[in-house]
Amino acid sequence: MVWTVVLGVAALVALLTRELVTVVLLTLVWLLPGLVMQVAGMVAPRQCHAFEVWWRARRIARAVRAAWPGLSRALDLGEVAYRTVKADDGARSKVEHWVPAQVWVDASPVDAVLTIRVPRGLSSADIRAKADAIGADLGAVAVHDVPAGPGLVALRCIFVDVLATARAWPAAVGVVAPVVGRGEDGSPVCHDWRTPTHMAVQGSTRSGKSVLSYALLGSLAGREDVAVVGVDPSGLLLGPWQDLGRFPGLIACGTADMGGAVDVLGHLVDVMDDRVRRLRASGADKIDVFTVDDPLLVVVVEELPGARRAVKDQGGTKLLAAFDSQLGRLVAEGAKVGVRVLVLGQRLSAASIDTDSRSNFSAAITLRVDSSEALRMLHSPDVAARFGSECGDWSPGVGVVTLPGAGTRRFRADLTSYEQYRAAVRLSSPADAMLGLPVSVHAPALRMVDDLEDAAGGAA
Ligand SMILES: Nc1ncnc2c1ncn2[C@@H]1O[C@H](COP(=O)(O)OP(=O)(O)O)[C@@H](O)[C@H]1O
Ligand SMILES: [Mg+2]
Repeated sequence: MVWTVVLGVAALVALLTRELVTVVLLTLVWLLPGLVMQVAGMVAPRQCHAFEVWWRARRIARAVRAAWPGLSRALDLGEVAYRTVKADDGARSKVEHWVPAQVWVDASPVDAVLTIRVPRGLSSADIRAKADAIGADLGAVAVHDVPAGPGLVALRCIFVDVLATARAWPAAVGVVAPVVGRGEDGSPVCHDWRTPTHMAVQGSTRSGKSVLSYALLGSLAGREDVAVVGVDPSGLLLGPWQDLGRFPGLIACGTADMGGAVDVLGHLVDVMDDRVRRLRASGADKIDVFTVDDPLLVVVVEELPGARRAVKDQGGTKLLAAFDSQLGRLVAEGAKVGVRVLVLGQRLSAASIDTDSRSNFSAAITLRVDSSEALRMLHSPDVAARFGSECGDWSPGVGVVTLPGAGTRRFRADLTSYEQYRAAVRLSSPADAMLGLPVSVHAPALRMVDDLEDAAGGAA
């Protein structure tokens, strides 16, 4: 701000004195930060994104800290203290002054957690009672009470209406625990594919299922210890992976040959059975380290109800029974040997996933659906009661997410495009690597061993 004013005044003076060269130079300097960010955004998008996040968070933190003294006075969050002052004639007198309650601010680009020390004479309930006023004063769209230590009250003030604001997918590839959106409180929604569970995503047409799956799967691009495989009647979602040619026989695209799709599930069951045998022989109870030869298998079944219909149309109930039983086995037995099933559909009713299988999908996402019944089926009666009246009105990308150990919350998925997804997946192709596009530049953590080392390093 100060920078802009100084430059503006200097440019004006130069203009008045007809120093045209200086005017041009000053204009360039003025544009410099923007230009630098543009170039940096092209050269190092991830670092640039991190910088932007840090910068926005810093701005929010500074604004909150600046507002606090006045706010604490207006809302009576602090205490009166006295100071002795000496007048010219040597007489001492006590002067009253205001000491705002001590506050720590931890900001992100969308919110700030204010941890307030309860001042003398007040209780934590007094401060909580003023939470809404504090939020209103700071211009927050919502305020939530969050856990804090004794003698402290922590309030999360949210400055961005997350559900109404789409954010671009950061296009981080080579990530096995991608962030795919934000909870309504601004917290990241992260799905860790290493968690031994399966995931189901449902939503009506144009509710944002495909866009969400681009983020869920695109992040896995470039990982040599992950295989994205499965059955995709549309051919759009798995097509880019099929083009890589890494796992022929484990991907079926299109509806021309649904027998082939059933074969793919059959091969996957064989791989799973082989792993179970090896697991028994090794005496371990689960496989949790994955390699190029033994990758984490992400088995996608796009448009499950449609795929089942196509199977039945082509091969009758017998072929459908084979399809169902193989998918059912992958879901029931795969989690402990590194199989993760991702099913997508407009409505995952009892006909497409039976009740026994459903309990294995402890990661579930529902985008816009026409009835609360869909929420009850995939999540729980409680979730249906909470969100049933609004689930038909969610805009594309808005929905509820249930993750293991994290309960159910409203969220908004990050926005991606098919071009972005295809480009991300292509990155992992050996052909691109030969053309001099090193995957490692875009995907620093290509193997889970690296992630484990990162985690260990971070903890040390
Ligand atoms: N997270 C999102 N934020 C904003 N707009 C979105 C989001 N997800 C989807 N959309 C919009 O909705 C359209 C339909 O999304 P899509 O994923 O194709 O739906 P579906 O696969 O459920 O039919 C997209 O073209 C996009 O314009
Ligand atoms: Mg779609």
